[in-house]
Order: sequence, then C-alpha cells, then structure tokens
Amino acid sequence: MTKPSQPKLPTHLETRNQIGEKLVSPSASRNSQVIGQQLDKILPIGAHVLEIASGTGQHGAFMCALRPDIYWQMSDIDDASRQSQNAYAQEFQMQMPPSLPLNMMDDGWADNIVPVDVIYCANMIHIAPWQAALGVAKSAETVLKEGGRLCLYGPFLKTVGSASSNVEFDKSLKTRNPEWGVRNLQAVKHIFADSGLSHCTVIEMPRDNFFLVFK
Ligand SMILES: C[S@@+](CC[C@H](N)C(=O)[O-])C[C@H]1O[C@@H](n2cnc3c(N)ncnc32)[C@H](O)[C@@H]1O
Repeated sequence: MTKPSQPKLPTHLETRNQIGEKLVSPSASRNSQVIGQQLDKILPIGAHVLEIASGTGQHGAFMCALRPDIYWQMSDIDDASRQSQNAYAQEFQMQMPPSLPLNMMDDGWADNIVPVDVIYCANMIHIAPWQAALGVAKSAETVLKEGGRLCLYGPFLKTVGSASSNVEFDKSLKTRNPEWGVRNLQAVKHIFADSGLSHCTVIEMPRDNFFLVFK
C-alpha cells in the first residue's frame, strides 16, 4: 500500500485573499507604504534588488510602481506564493522577472544569483527555523555587490524592554512550531556581523516592527 503523503506544513501565517491569480495580504497592503518609504531612501538609482520570501508579491509590485528605475527579483520557498508573485510581475515585465524558487535553508541558495545592490527580506525569519536566518546571513555577502545593503523588516525581541505584543507573538509562534519565534535583535545582528555585515541601523516602525539596514 502506498504511504499517504505528509501534509505540507504552512510556510506563512498571514491572511491571504485571492483576486484572480494574485494573493492579497491585508498586512502587506497596510505596511507597503511605510516600508516603501524606508526602501526608497536606500535604493540607488537603477538598483537591482533581490527579495527573499516575497510572499504575495505585493511589496515588490509596490516598489516597482514607486520606482520605475529599479529591477526587482522576487523569490520564495512556496509555490503558491511564487504563482502570485508571477501574477504581479506580469504588470512590471521590464522590472520584475519570474520569481525564483529559493529556500534559505538550502546551502546552495545563492549559487546562481547575480550580485545585487540590495537584499530585502520581510517577515520571514520568525516564521521559519533559525537555520533560515543563518542561511540568509551566510550567503548575503556573496550576493551583495561591493557596498551593498541588506534590509530586514519584521518584529524583533530586545534584550530588555521588548514590546509586549512581540513577546506574546513569540509565544504563539512557538506553540504552532517550536522552531519558529520572534528573533532576538542582538542575535540577528551577530549572525550578520559574522558574515561581514557589521554595521546595522535599526529603525522603529509602526506596530512594534523594525526595519534593519545592514552594510
Ligand atoms: C509571513 S510571509 C511574508 C511575506 C512578505 N515578505 C511580506 O512581508 O508580506 C513569509 C514568507 O516566507 C516564505 N518562507 C518561509 N520559509 C522560507 C524559507 N526557508 N526560504 C524562503 N522563503 C521562506 C513563505 O513561503 C512566505 O511567503
């Protein structure tokens, strides 16, 4: 008798509505503008960006509309997410190539990536094992051009004085999957410093989120 296939574990927790081929996350709709304001400041003219864990694809589409000069490569571990990303990419064919199937826990994820000015990754490292954060850090330097930057967005815990919403979120993530969890900001800084990205600017964002810029 054939063994039943294992249910696929979810790779995200967000609410997603389907509109045609596109997925729409209310959270991405809400935060695109504030994240966009930060990214706009750091993207050089004509910037090439690699987005890790692009989710629905809304952040990339928002940025390509805001900045017609940039080139934005989306990626994700999840096929359904990549399908939605490709639907958004259809509207920005000069700026967005088809999404890449990248898993940050795969040692060779960066092997065929053309170097970029900026790596951007939002809301992934708490909804994935710590190994995924290590995977981003390990290969970031090889993917970034000289002087490039890496941006992370999401919730983080502070050593002292974390927002109670983030402490509660951490607990609820761990009940769903003990390998998930809101990451400690210092631990995150350390793993990127170990990979050569030792300067980190921390920007406080709405709803107890942070925007981190490493260089
Ligand atoms: C909460 S969603 C965030 C999506 C988008 N970045 C945003 O902020 O709206 C997390 C995304 O991370 C992706 N993901 C989870 N584990 C991953 C991994 N190991 N490598 C790459 N992507 C991963 C999921 O498939 C999902 O699309």
